[in-house]
Amino acid sequence: MSPTAQIPPRLEVQGLFRSFEGRMAVEDVSFSIRAGQVTCLLGPSGCGKSTTLRMIAGVEMQDRGRILVDGTLICDTVFRVPPERRAIGLMFQDFALFPHLSVAENVAFGLSGPSRVKRQRVEELLDRVHLAHHIDDFPHQLSGGEQQRVALARALAPRPRILLMDEPFSGLDERLRDDIRDETLALLKEEGTAVLLVTHEPQEAMRMADEILLMRGGRIVQGGAPYNLYNAPVDRAAASFFSDINVIRARVEGALTRTPFGEFLAPGRADGSEVDIVIRPQHLKIDFDRAGQGPLPTPQDGTAARALVERARFMGRESLVEFRMEYDGSVLKATVPNVFLPKAGTPMWLMIRRDRCFVFPVT
Ligand SMILES: Nc1ncnc2c1ncn2[C@@H]1O[C@H](COP(=O)(O)OP(=O)(O)O)[C@@H](O)[C@H]1O
Ligand SMILES: [Mg+2]
Repeated sequence: MSPTAQIPPRLEVQGLFRSFEGRMAVEDVSFSIRAGQVTCLLGPSGCGKSTTLRMIAGVEMQDRGRILVDGTLICDTVFRVPPERRAIGLMFQDFALFPHLSVAENVAFGLSGPSRVKRQRVEELLDRVHLAHHIDDFPHQLSGGEQQRVALARALAPRPRILLMDEPFSGLDERLRDDIRDETLALLKEEGTAVLLVTHEPQEAMRMADEILLMRGGRIVQGGAPYNLYNAPVDRAAASFFSDINVIRARVEGALTRTPFGEFLAPGRADGSEVDIVIRPQHLKIDFDRAGQGPLPTPQDGTAARALVERARFMGRESLVEFRMEYDGSVLKATVPNVFLPKAGTPMWLMIRRDRCFVFPVT
């Protein structure tokens, strides 16, 4: 056995359920997080993320299920360690600092012990969030981003075994967010805390998480490394949660579907059933080499389909081109790196790489 196999996870959640007025908010949620790992609970508003987090914090009781910290039960439906004795740190969107306390006093708030030791920890943390020079200031003298970093220092000061963060960055200015996310992540990794971060933003989850748990309607529908969720989504909705998608509907005939882009494999799909072929805009390929004439089909790229440029826009890092497909008049979107702004009405040929599309049953 590897050494990690013998160490229980820092946080383990087993089969949590919670309903409100007969409506299921959290349904059979299980996962575990190791020390030093950041896990993101990702999903649309109302899918049960905060309720899950609140049960772990101990401010909400589950109807069923167990929560363990370092292999020790802290909560089931009979036994319950109170929130203040769980050694769990919390950070929320409205991370309100105490306005009448200085930055140092805010960070020291949850600390006990000799004041010299407390002061040392406060200085160490403020140094790490680059706010040492604000140690004697008051919250109203700081910017939103600085206040957020003080809140992080405050949450980490008592060295919690677990840190729960609920949409902690959503109150911040867009341009600040990336820097603060990166700084926060670096500090969390140094502290070795197990982190559960709740967010509805896929970009945030991709940037921060070692593991993403994708939630929908109270359930975890898929879990894994960001790369796996992006590149192997379980269904059409999971694919579209991370980016814009193109969808081509087709009917299965003998484990194949025929489309204007050629044939696609649809193994295990019943004859006569419908499937959605899903392609992200960056994987819809424009065939520049053969402008004006359709290429021969290849196993990798299939056949090219003719389209007319509907609209092209420069988006900063890439250009977004919308095509009106000649075969049925539908619109497909393609992104192209850098500046590519063909005139509306320009004919072009489009192809779909077979290793870059997903084939899902229509549900
Ligand atoms: N205290 C409550 N009373 C009634 N319904 C609640 C309560 N808390 C949450 N809910 C409901 O449970 C569902 C999940 O809520 P929540 O966990 O806050 O979702 P999220 O954080 O993913 O946006 C929602 O439908 C919400 O309205
Ligand atoms: Mg919430």
